Amino acid sequence: MILVTGGSGLTGSHLLLELSRKAEPLRVLKRNSSDISWVRRIFDYYEPEKGGELFSCMEWVDGDITDPDSLTAAFRDVTTVYHTAGYVSFDPGEYKRLRKINVEGTRHMVELSLKYGVEHFCHVSSVAALGKHHQGDELWVSETDYRKMREERSCYGFSKLLGELEVWRAMEEGLRAVIVNPVIILGPGNWNRGSARLFKTMQNGSPFYPPGSNGFVDVRDVVRIMLLLTERRISGERFVINAENLSYRQVLSWMAQGFGRKAPSIRAGKGLMIMAAMADKMMSRLAGKPHLLTRETARTSSSHIFYNNEKIKSTLSYEFIPVKEAIDQAVTFFLSLTDDTDQRR
Ligand SMILES: NC(=O)c1ccc[n+]([C@@H]2O[C@H](COP(=O)([O-])OP(=O)(O)OC[C@H]3O[C@@H](n4cnc5c(N)ncnc54)[C@H](OP(=O)(O)O)[C@@H]3O)[C@@H](O)[C@H]2O)c1
Repeated sequence: MILVTGGSGLTGSHLLLELSRKAEPLRVLKRNSSDISWVRRIFDYYEPEKGGELFSCMEWVDGDITDPDSLTAAFRDVTTVYHTAGYVSFDPGEYKRLRKINVEGTRHMVELSLKYGVEHFCHVSSVAALGKHHQGDELWVSETDYRKMREERSCYGFSKLLGELEVWRAMEEGLRAVIVNPVIILGPGNWNRGSARLFKTMQNGSPFYPPGSNGFVDVRDVVRIMLLLTERRISGERFVINAENLSYRQVLSWMAQGFGRKAPSIRAGKGLMIMAAMADKMMSRLAGKPHLLTRETARTSSSHIFYNNEKIKSTLSYEFIPVKEAIDQAVTFFLSLTDDTDQRR
C-alpha cells in the first residue's frame, strides 16, 4: 500500500494521477477541510476518458500531519510514503504555522514511518532549504550546499530546512528515504494558492516583472522523478529538481502570451517591490487575508540564483520538459476552466 500526503495540492494531485495509472493500491491523506475537486479536474484534464475511474480507485482518509493520533489509521499496511504535504508562505507572521506543518508535520510522518516499518519514504523539500556557493560572479545552488543556521533565509526556507533535518535524522535511525528539492513548480492546479497563483496574476494582466531569475520545473517532471527514485529505492540522497534557470521576465511573458495578454514591460526594481510588499501587508491586514507579497519575495525575485541539475540528470539519465512547454500545458488547463465559479475559486 502506498500512502500519499498533500494529495489535494499541485504536486500531490499529479503524483496521484501517475500512481493511479500504475494501478497501485493507493491511500491518500487529506484534511477534512481539503477541497479535492481540483484533483478530479486534474484527472479529467489529462485522462478525459477514464479520469473518473482512476479517481474512484483511491482510498481517501482524513488526517492532519500536525496531529499524530489522526494519522495512525492511514499507516495500516503501508510500505511506501510520498510526503508532499507542506505549507508555502513567505510571510514572517506565518512562521508558527510553517513550523507546525513543515517541521512538526514531517517529524510525525517519519516517526510513524519508522514505527510501522515503512520500506521507503520520499520527501518533498525545496531548494529554499539549501545554501549557495559562488561560481565566478554567479550564485549557484547544488545538493552539497548546506545552509548555515545563522545565514539569512526566509521563514519558509528555514522551516523546510528543519523539516528536511527531521528526515535526515530518521535516516540515521534506519528509515530508507530520499529527498527532492524542487525549484518553482509549474503546472495545472488550484490557481488561488502556491506557485499556480503566478498564472492567475498573468491571466488578470500585469505590466510588471521582477528583475531577477529563478529555476522552474514542470510538476510532471517532479512527480516522475519522485517515482523513479522510489522505484529504484534510492536512499540517503537529495536531488535539486530544476528544468531551466530563467528570468522572471521570460517566464511571465510566456504566461501572458498564452493568455493573450501583453508581456510585462515595466521592471519592478527591488525598491518598488519592497514598497508594494508594504502596501500588500496593510491591505491584507485590512482584508484579513494572507500576506502574499513580502520583503522576502521582493528580495528573492530581485536576485539571480542558478540551480544545478546535473546530479538528477546523471543519476536517472533524465531529460526535463522545456519550461515553455510546461507553461503552455498549464495555460491550456486554466483556459479550460470555463465555469465562472472555477475561475473565481
Ligand atoms: N509549489 C512550489 O513551487 C514548490 C517548490 C518547491 C517545493 N515545494 C514543496 O512541495 C510540496 C508541495 O507543494 P505544492 O505547491 O504542491 O503544495 P500545495 O498545492 O500548496 O498543497 C499543499 C498540500 O499540503 C496539504 N497540507 C497542508 N497542511 C497540511 C496538514 N496540516 N495536514 C495534512 N495535509 C496538509 C494541503 O492540504 P489542503 O488541501 O487541506 O490545504 C495540500 O494538499 C510542499 O512541501 C512545498 O513546500 C513547492
